Amino acid sequence: MKSEDNVTSLNDEELKIHGQFDQDKIKEQYDHLSSNYEDVYLQVGYPDPDKCAEFVENFEVSKDEEIFDMGCGTGLVGLKLKEKGYTNVVGVDASEKMLDQAKEKDSYTDLEELFLGTPDTFPEKYRERFVALTAAGILAEGHLGNEVFDEMVLALKQGGYAIFTTREEYLTKYNYQEKMDALVEEGKWEFVKQEEFLRYNNMKGDGVGRFKPTKVLVFAYKKL
Ligand SMILES: C[S@@+](CC[C@H](N)C(=O)[O-])C[C@H]1O[C@@H](n2cnc3c(N)ncnc32)[C@H](O)[C@@H]1O
Repeated sequence: MKSEDNVTSLNDEELKIHGQFDQDKIKEQYDHLSSNYEDVYLQVGYPDPDKCAEFVENFEVSKDEEIFDMGCGTGLVGLKLKEKGYTNVVGVDASEKMLDQAKEKDSYTDLEELFLGTPDTFPEKYRERFVALTAAGILAEGHLGNEVFDEMVLALKQGGYAIFTTREEYLTKYNYQEKMDALVEEGKWEFVKQEEFLRYNNMKGDGVGRFKPTKVLVFAYKKL
């Protein structure tokens, strides 16, 4: 299916370069995609930032307490949090050029280049610091493995909320659910709630490349 059937100003080639991600090249891949990232995501339909911000609001996190946006990219989550009145959001991402765009939004108190997925070297300064964290679109093919859940636990203060999205199919494909459950069994966090929604919801039929209407879940876990 041609993308003209779906979104007007994007061609199939533009959509197809958003694929085949690989952690060994992820910084270069997103540096390259940064200039059209929002163009693509906002047109194909990407409710994840809204869903994450709604979940944060649901937990009555104080507007001036520190929130951690993991894999913040161009800052779409920070923008939604800012619109809801949150004034103290710290963002990290592997891609310098995605971060450059996040800086322009003026939604973050601090933005830093950080490669996630290695809990052993997770920076001291981010440990036990945040009352909530968000992770939109980073639990995905070629993106973060389930080690990032250990980093979430490290980053939160006791009682803090981890709020993240992932495709339903990835829960088993990349063993995310297994790790989420293991952390419950280990008494590190407890499940609070989840909600289902459709990502790439502006696309029709089979869509283009990875962009077809897809079942996604947003989760909240509370650190114990
Ligand atoms: C689909 S984008 C999501 C960005 C943003 N959270 C949003 O919702 O628009 C995925 C982001 O994850 C980042 N990323 C992927 N692997 C990473 C890693 N190991 N460490 C830090 N960031 C990573 C990419 O640079 C990219 O900005």
